[in-house]
Amino acid sequence: MADLDENSITEAVIAQMSTTADPRMKTVMESLVRHLHGFAREVRLTPDEWLQAIGFLTRTGQTCTPARQEFILLSDTLGLSRLVNLMDDKANRMGDATEASLLGPFYREASPRFEMGESIAKHATGPELIVFGRVLNEKGEGVANASVEVWQTDAEGYYDLQAQDPSQMDMRGQFRTDAEGRYAVRTLFPLGYYIPMDGPVGAMVTAQGRHGCRPAHIHMLIGAEGYRELVTALYLGNDQYIDSDVVFGVSESLVVRPETGVEGSPDPAVPSVRYDFHVAPRAAHDKTGRVGADPSKIAAE
Ligand code: BEZ
Ligand code: FE
Repeated sequence: MADLDENSITEAVIAQMSTTADPRMKTVMESLVRHLHGFAREVRLTPDEWLQAIGFLTRTGQTCTPARQEFILLSDTLGLSRLVNLMDDKANRMGDATEASLLGPFYREASPRFEMGESIAKHATGPELIVFGRVLNEKGEGVANASVEVWQTDAEGYYDLQAQDPSQMDMRGQFRTDAEGRYAVRTLFPLGYYIPMDGPVGAMVTAQGRHGCRPAHIHMLIGAEGYRELVTALYLGNDQYIDSDVVFGVSESLVVRPETGVEGSPDPAVPSVRYDFHVAPRAAHDKTGRVGADPSKIAAE
């Protein structure tokens, strides 16, 4: 039996895992072990730091509930969610399809249904905003009966999931496009917000001297039969954090600047944004472009 040293330990682990039946799992785990060991060697990880990391991950798990996903938040703040989004877009986004953005930890399935142009603000109040446009396919034709799911903060910067009673839904809903692919959402101006800072991820962000804010945005999830699901968001260009999003979600093509008097707006007196979403045909191998999930579904798995 050969004694292990700080380099041969890596090959020993990989050799023992070589019986892994699933080829993708084998590739992913081998690479994970190589990088994890490489990282530990590079920083000369000490026992104290190792234990701190175990404590941090333990608290991260303990902070997760059906309404809060601290591990997704960790992935987001480390830029991993955006990296997965970018790689998935590169592999699967076609032509001029709209860029993806983070799903984030505040998405919920089964939000209320609204008719074209209705307001998603049931209880929240604040300055109004209209987002309207079309869902278009790769030929520039309107996609009829596409589902347009919208969720955002209220005008104070909070999601309904952060309220005392998170079972009450507000500032989210589902719309359907008409025969020409048109959609229209009446809402309130979202406010930029701090990601949840009262848990282990917030403590990490604070220790790193980061501000912990996201610029104001409206999440959109667009789905239509035969098309690749589009998870994206529109970002308000005048937000002070537009260039320093703590979760790296902003791209130039998703930045909008609402104005009054926008032609075609259902109510041009209300600041409006016209934005057409471009969806790509669904490829046979395509699974999902979602980097995230409803937290209650992850907790239930
Ligand atoms: C969000 O946009 O809802 C979000 C994304 C990542 C972390 C926190 C919030
Ligand atoms: Fe958000």
